[in-house]
Amino acid sequence: MLGPVLLAAARSDSIRRIVAAAPVTRPVVERFVAGERLTESMAAVRTLAARGLEVTLDHLGEDITDPAEALRNRDAYLQLAAALKEHGLGVKAEMSVKLSAFGQALAGGHELALKNVTPVVEAAAEAGTTVTLDMEDHTTVDSTLAILADLRERFPQTGAVLQSYLFRTEDDCHALAGEGSRVRLVKGAYKEPATVAFQDKREVDKAYVRCLKILMAGEGYPMIGSHDPRMVAIAQELAHRNGRKPADYEFQMLYGIREAEQQRLVAEGHRMRVYIPYGTDWYGYFMRRLAERPANLGFFLRSLATR
Ligand code: FDA
Repeated sequence: MLGPVLLAAARSDSIRRIVAAAPVTRPVVERFVAGERLTESMAAVRTLAARGLEVTLDHLGEDITDPAEALRNRDAYLQLAAALKEHGLGVKAEMSVKLSAFGQALAGGHELALKNVTPVVEAAAEAGTTVTLDMEDHTTVDSTLAILADLRERFPQTGAVLQSYLFRTEDDCHALAGEGSRVRLVKGAYKEPATVAFQDKREVDKAYVRCLKILMAGEGYPMIGSHDPRMVAIAQELAHRNGRKPADYEFQMLYGIREAEQQRLVAEGHRMRVYIPYGTDWYGYFMRRLAERPANLGFFLRSLATR
């Protein structure tokens, strides 16, 4: 029952201020976030790349309320793309973006987000890499998929995230299972109403498998975004059944989560990409990680108690 409370807290400014000010928060946040600065994220890329892992970088930010912030977020991604180009890391690292950080929720937000994200996708291509559009709450899905379609006209390798907890997602998987399409399938991390999303975890898992079957049987490039050992095993089985080679799909996990499993999959010859968040605006991301797993919350509370 704590999950929904934490997800609601993830969007509360007053709770944000309390959590951010708590002195114990920082060491716990560091478990999930590579650092506040671009240089720290580059160091994390190099460390993981040396272990055979690929990465996707997320400059933290979401739910902005001011168009000037959208421009700052765009510029942070342009700096990131420039750093990847300068250090020749485009082969190992792609970028993940949240369109709410580019103004999607503001007045005229669809056009604004497209306008702000386009130079980032262009810069990614110049750096020899690509961008994946993260998926946020269900009210944003139509706009995000329309922006994806727009971007793919010039940059067909642009990827998107689909969330198995949404009733609509099987249809979206069919629509995005074509050649050249890159889809990261996740279970979904937001608080969604019963009118649009499965509430029972077993239903979400079953939907994940149905979606995985569609993507694996399709012509696109499935990206399996899950730490769940059952989903990883099923993905491997489906890849085998559909004659996919290790280069035809990849696993993705979050920075700081199940690192031994990440390494095990690499050792088995799989592609494994780690999602690396960095930046100062870590609150929403951090609260969603606490909501997902009681053990993460326990870790946070234990650090509070031992001070
Ligand atoms: P889930 O939480 O269902 O747990 C299932 C099992 O996995 C557990 O019982 C345990 O065995 C194992 N497990 C999970 N976490 C573990 C841990 N910390 N340590 C050890 N074992 C653990 N969401 C979204 O809405 N939009 C997005 O754009 C993205 N993007 C994204 C990118 C990537 C790369 C990943 C991996 C995830 C996302 N997500 C996301 C988050 C996603 O929706 C989901 O909330 C989390 O991945 C948790 O679901 P899982 O499938 O990982 O396992």
